[in-house]
Amino acid sequence: PTGPIVVLGSANMDLVTRQPRLPAPGETIAGTGFATGAGGKGLNQAVAARRAGAEVTFAGAVGDDGFGRELRAFLEAEGIATAHLRTSAQPTGIAQVSVLADGENGIVIVAGANGEDELTDGDRAAIAGASALVVQLERPLALVERALSAARAAGVRTVLTPAPVDGAAARLLPLVDVLVPNEPEALGLSGAADVEGAARHLSERVGTVIVTRGPRGALVAREGGILATVEAVAVDAVDTTGAGDTFVGVLVARLVEGAVLDDAVRAATAAAAIAVTRPGAAPAMPYRAEIEAALARRVGTGGA
Ligand code: RIB
Ligand code: NA
Repeated sequence: PTGPIVVLGSANMDLVTRQPRLPAPGETIAGTGFATGAGGKGLNQAVAARRAGAEVTFAGAVGDDGFGRELRAFLEAEGIATAHLRTSAQPTGIAQVSVLADGENGIVIVAGANGEDELTDGDRAAIAGASALVVQLERPLALVERALSAARAAGVRTVLTPAPVDGAAARLLPLVDVLVPNEPEALGLSGAADVEGAARHLSERVGTVIVTRGPRGALVAREGGILATVEAVAVDAVDTTGAGDTFVGVLVARLVEGAVLDDAVRAATAAAAIAVTRPGAAPAMPYRAEIEAALARRVGTGGA
């Protein structure tokens, strides 16, 4: 199939405070900044893939409220197809994001409309005609499973980010071609004691495993063996929210263009490094030209 990338997943309004640390129970602390912005792992991945140059359809659900209208308008302004974005009777999902001084974050999500678990015949048709299906775990597991099965039945490449961590997600693995966990997710899904062991173990159950390791780059495994380790680009992080989503969106955009895995991982790594230098999730994601420029700099300095 050669259609658009279909991202089925969550859309959240991110409510972001900057603060020195997380408050203790019963404590009030002063934050240093506040912003709202488009987020949700699904929406983020859709935006990353679109800005990297791919045609993208987002399948999700928002509420009939101000946040929902804002997120829909944001997606449309990005040039992402919203024919499979439903308006739910539930409120739009939100994420309360605390960004700490070092750029790390803690997040509380309230699913709201993301809890909608219907997969219509129209959604199935869109998946069957996609160049790839990309899913995460901020929608109901049963919905994600049905979507993956629809893709598998149509011979469509499937990509799963197993986030947030959910042990029950192991049952999805037989339906996954490309699995992109971070370290805790890889350890949690595999039960392995170390990240290389986790990558090797998981790669016996899916096509390809790419473990994202933030400032330590990425690990690629296939058929029980480590294929490659890709170095990260050193940057000063101001906000790491959505870095993993940037990685996945760009990875898939490159793969559907026909890039070899190594090159796709390198582009994804470069894109994530750019995203963490800017505040916010989806709004921070780089455009294709920025990714190309970063890759060219890396080659120029022998850093690739
Ligand atoms: O992966 C980052 C995302 O997680 C944020 O945008 C937030 O909405 C949460 O879903
Ligand atoms: Na960011």
